[in-house]
Amino acid sequence: METPVAAAAEHQVITPSILYFGTPVVLLSTENEDGTANLAPMSSAWALGQTVVLGLGVHGQSARNLRARPELVINLPAPEHWPAVERLAPLTGHDPVPAHKQGTFRYEPAKFEAAGLRPLPADLVRPARVAECPIQLEARAADVRTDTAGAFIIVEATVLRVHADPRLVVPGTQHVDPARWSPLIYNFRHYFGLGPELGRSFRSETRTVR
Ligand SMILES: Cc1cc2nc3c(=O)[nH]c(=O)nc-3n(C[C@H](O)[C@H](O)[C@H](O)COP(=O)(O)O)c2cc1C
Repeated sequence: METPVAAAAEHQVITPSILYFGTPVVLLSTENEDGTANLAPMSSAWALGQTVVLGLGVHGQSARNLRARPELVINLPAPEHWPAVERLAPLTGHDPVPAHKQGTFRYEPAKFEAAGLRPLPADLVRPARVAECPIQLEARAADVRTDTAGAFIIVEATVLRVHADPRLVVPGTQHVDPARWSPLIYNFRHYFGLGPELGRSFRSETRTVR
């Protein structure tokens, strides 16, 4: 039998180059200077009530856009969308390509087309929603600040409207059914979906399906 990870007698001290310990992937839609759409994959995103906090590299087009035009859509892809996410991975909407991305990334102004994803108009903000994403959060950046190292912007985005695929909604309620929804997880630069449900929080308002 495989030894469970938690049962190791001693931990090893390591210095990993990244600390992406498994957070959902989002596709961030923002608006470029000329009114066209930018779309970028990111995973440093988490929710606090109706706020979503985002961490973005200062030299990216998404950061440039949010500093000038604070509207955005936080689109949540499903596990099956990972190839489209990965098609966006080597692209930047920033022209010229920032120095640290030269040779690895290329400038691409038409991100939706490059990913093979369809834009849909949002109701309350200018950037487009991603039609294929089962959950889409229209939002406005209430605060954009630079982190202490000057490498990232930390965005506090207020969610204004939530769109959900009706098949994910518990009928007659406002709840997303956790048994039907799986985020796409970015786990140390590899993509995963969720495994089977293990249990529920005492505060859950939705049923457990086993
Ligand atoms: C799955 C995935 C997650 C990523 N997460 C982040 C992130 O949280 N923050 C960030 O700044 N870049 C992240 N990146 C890298 C950006 O997508 C990349 O820098 C991209 O060029 C940004 O595009 P833009 O310059 O058009 O905004 C991620 C990339 C992938 C593929």
